[in-house]
Amino acid sequence: MIRVRSRSGAEEPGMEEKIKELITEVESFEASSKEQAEAFRLKYLSKKGIIAGLFAEMKNVQPDQRKEYGLVVNELKTKAETKFQVLSEKLEDTGSASAETAIDFTLPAEPYVTGARHPISLARKQIVSIFSRIGYTISEGPEIEDDWHNFTALNFPENHPARDMQDTFFIRQGARDTESIALRTHTSSVQVRVMENSKPPIRTISPGRVYRNEAISARAHCFFHQVEGLYIDEGVSFADLKQTLLYFAKEMFGTETKIRLRPSYFPFTEPSAEMDVTCSICKGNGCNVCKHTGWLEILGCGMVDPNVLDNCKIDSNKFSGFAFGMGIERIAMLRYGINDLRLFSENDIRFLKQFRGEIA
Ligand code: DAH
Repeated sequence: MIRVRSRSGAEEPGMEEKIKELITEVESFEASSKEQAEAFRLKYLSKKGIIAGLFAEMKNVQPDQRKEYGLVVNELKTKAETKFQVLSEKLEDTGSASAETAIDFTLPAEPYVTGARHPISLARKQIVSIFSRIGYTISEGPEIEDDWHNFTALNFPENHPARDMQDTFFIRQGARDTESIALRTHTSSVQVRVMENSKPPIRTISPGRVYRNEAISARAHCFFHQVEGLYIDEGVSFADLKQTLLYFAKEMFGTETKIRLRPSYFPFTEPSAEMDVTCSICKGNGCNVCKHTGWLEILGCGMVDPNVLDNCKIDSNKFSGFAFGMGIERIAMLRYGINDLRLFSENDIRFLKQFRGEIA
């Protein structure tokens, strides 16, 4: 038994047992945070720690027992050092993960924020999909267009007031109307290109951007989007047009939807009509959106004028066809309850993010 003299000079028994207890304590010590490991280091291994204190006691140990005393204290020191090293390495591996900050795998995941399609893209995709299902192809044409494709081939006579129906952005204004180059005012120009480049039967839709020299307001814009439709074959009648448009209206706005055709005028169709659908908001009963009429105008249409067929080298004695054109913004406004055209081009994230999760 190692005996140490106490301060009073009396010998303190059981020093060896005390150190052995400390060894057991050190061996069984566990830490789950770097802070706890550091507290361990301070307690045992620092300058003012237990072990330094025990070494300081050496001078009070009976000289013949100093060797033995030194051995046990050294054992305690080695054990404490090893323990601290092992703990430090372990806690380094798991980061500073203490019990409180450790990752809790049972928590719900952070929400994954997806982007949103633009409402114009959504409406365009829907329109395209509806017509694709009945065999329509998709065709596109240039946004910078010559007078022939935008006006003349479509039966707009030179110097005729019909050209003023659509205020045009000219890129080059020729001495004569027919020599000008402009931003296309409608996607009907693509009809001409398709008819010039293919033979009937033709069944195609042409989505795209169009431009008009108009002051920007809630109801008008200097650029917007249209989808043009064209069907040319032998024996195509107005009844075919009506049935096709009824199918479209029901697919787009719901099976309850009714349509009505009102006589109208376009240079490139004869007869021409404008089509209304029953207001999808009040189901035809009358509301602010349909100005209490129960009807909403959505497109222009008609039987392709024989002059247009001839202009495009299609035999108007053999073939007939119908065409229609609709504004995508208008469809999107009705579909999503949007009341200002400007919202489509302002890129306001508060507006756009509302379409998250919408798929066409
Ligand atoms: N191009 C016309 C417009 O921009 C829409 C239109 C009306 C297209 C009748 C057509 C049609 O194909 O037959 O207002």
